[in-house]
Amino acid sequence: MIRYRGVAYYPEFWPEDRWDEDIRLMREAHINLVRIGEFAWTPMEPAEGRFDLGWLHRIIEKMGAAGIEVMLCTPTATPPAWLTKACPDTLLVTREGKRAVHGGRRHYCPTSATYRRHVERITERLASEFSRYPNVTSWQIDNELGPESGECYCESCASGFRGWLERRYGNLERLNAAWQTRFWSVVYTDWAEIDIRHCEAGYPSIDLDVRRFHSDSWVDFAAHQAGILRRLHPGSTVTTNMMGPVFRWIDYHDLAKVVDVACDDLYFDMATMSGDALAADVFRCLKPGKRFWVTETGSASLVTGKPPHADQLRAWAFSSAARGSDAHVIFRWRTCLAGQEQDLQGIIETSGKPRRRYAAVKRLFEELEDLVPALGSLPLPKADVALVHTYDSHWAWQSTRIGGQVKELEHLYAVHELLFDRNVLVDPVPTDRDLSPYKLVVLPSVCIVRPETVAALQAFVRAGGVVLATPQLASRDVNNNYVPRCAPDGLTDLFGLRVEGKAFLDDASEPDRAIWFPKGNMVLETAHARFEDGTACEARAYVEDLELVGAKALARFTDNLYEGCPAATVNEAGKGAAFYAASYLDADGLGSLLDLALQRAGIAPGPRTPKWVEVVRRGDVTFAVNHSREPCTVEIPGREAVVGEWKKGKARLGAYGVCAVRG
Ligand code: GAL
Repeated sequence: MIRYRGVAYYPEFWPEDRWDEDIRLMREAHINLVRIGEFAWTPMEPAEGRFDLGWLHRIIEKMGAAGIEVMLCTPTATPPAWLTKACPDTLLVTREGKRAVHGGRRHYCPTSATYRRHVERITERLASEFSRYPNVTSWQIDNELGPESGECYCESCASGFRGWLERRYGNLERLNAAWQTRFWSVVYTDWAEIDIRHCEAGYPSIDLDVRRFHSDSWVDFAAHQAGILRRLHPGSTVTTNMMGPVFRWIDYHDLAKVVDVACDDLYFDMATMSGDALAADVFRCLKPGKRFWVTETGSASLVTGKPPHADQLRAWAFSSAARGSDAHVIFRWRTCLAGQEQDLQGIIETSGKPRRRYAAVKRLFEELEDLVPALGSLPLPKADVALVHTYDSHWAWQSTRIGGQVKELEHLYAVHELLFDRNVLVDPVPTDRDLSPYKLVVLPSVCIVRPETVAALQAFVRAGGVVLATPQLASRDVNNNYVPRCAPDGLTDLFGLRVEGKAFLDDASEPDRAIWFPKGNMVLETAHARFEDGTACEARAYVEDLELVGAKALARFTDNLYEGCPAATVNEAGKGAAFYAASYLDADGLGSLLDLALQRAGIAPGPRTPKWVEVVRRGDVTFAVNHSREPCTVEIPGREAVVGEWKKGKARLGAYGVCAVRG
């Protein structure tokens, strides 16, 4: 259960004679961790090589005296004005060739050698000066790495990309073959001809490599700082705050390898509750076997400033705790008087007074602290279902025009929501993870499947595992080109089917519809399908023309292009089975297919609960959290209640109620 109760604090913004009062209030609110320094480069180093760190020493000492640990952040998200003025090559350049200007954040180029030099100086200085404090226990690298101010296409990135390609492909022959550049005469005959911006029209294979390069650049940027911090402060926890549920610009499976703990900035009002649960699940699985931290979460809405109900704030904390979090850090201590996020509410009012948000956080943190002895050492929750998510596939989808219409990520969220609704815990994992701990592996539109994964899936099913895949499985090669065979490539035997044709459905041929004039009035169409038991569902936007070679049809299309053809199938293979959906089935359709797959895998869904009531088992404790305003009763077997109202196997959950039952 949650060990760190924290807050982001910006002492550089507040008068020093206020600090003691802030720390007193923090102690009273049971805060035991503060994040400090993330945007304070100029106060730390007002001119190149001239450091002013006295204030940082003083605040860290004060925190230490109060028993509060410090997560010290490197300030590299916000380069000082003197730096960007002296070295404009540190500023990112947009695809259109526009150089960023000072005053925002994350407007630097992660590959700039000049920027790295400055980053190294400040990071080394901070690590060597502050590692001596026993209460500085963790480091945050930068803040939310990624292209917040845009991805960079400067000269350094352009030549970096060419070098990256040379290392990947060795020679131009292999590069041209991988990218299949003959189309539109793109063929490269000299490395110097390759432009990271490549063509406006997009070229999926090139686009995928550009995305890979950008991602690698961010990971490398983080690794540089991580190396310095580990060298100068061994034993500390080195991390960076990331974003969920699925951040599309950096391969977090790579970034996670650079850090000691996976940290998510989880603002619960940014996604639906199942999206928030997905974020928690994703971060639990980034560092297998390790608890994750929620490094930022709001005590009020990010956009409007309206606070959630105090009990809802509590329900959110219990939800992520049940899913494996070990830190709950509120953004931020006090509402700022100025700046880009002036209206973003802190726990303390602009006046400096602790009012309602403070009271809510204090109550929550007091409870979390009280629960540490009883729930502090629970093992992580164990999932029977793996949900495959890979950046190759996410990026492949984004690089196609139609990908924007189908919204592959929304499909991933939809699959997760169906499992969330059934109280079946899911591990979102990349394909190189060991699949043997799972009974069911779900592959939502995983269009790129590497040969190793093909072999792993076959072995998994042969040994008794069950897989469920949705459209476009293994339809592309690792270079983002369609395979010149029937999909799913390498897996047609396993699924007992061949995808012989496909179509994105649109209504453009109707007399009042058009693709161009008037532009944008075409909509993606819905077909329909029916399962054997009569369940009818919508099949959205995209359909595949399946030829069954062993599989059995579980549902068929009842109209549109492939009327009468299979819409969902199952194939028994070895000791296991492979299920397939030939379209984006709605919740009824995909839910039915999922139920069949769960049943075949021998996974009993969790207790039936009303919508937005979740049940998660962690060790010998079952958590039930009601995220809705409607009170309800949920059946939970067990021995004794640790939290909430529970009697004779029944938990009574009020609005936003929480119950934790042992046994
Ligand atoms: C996070 C960021 C914070 C703050 C917060 C609220 O993404 O790390 O610095 O901006 O959002 O918008």
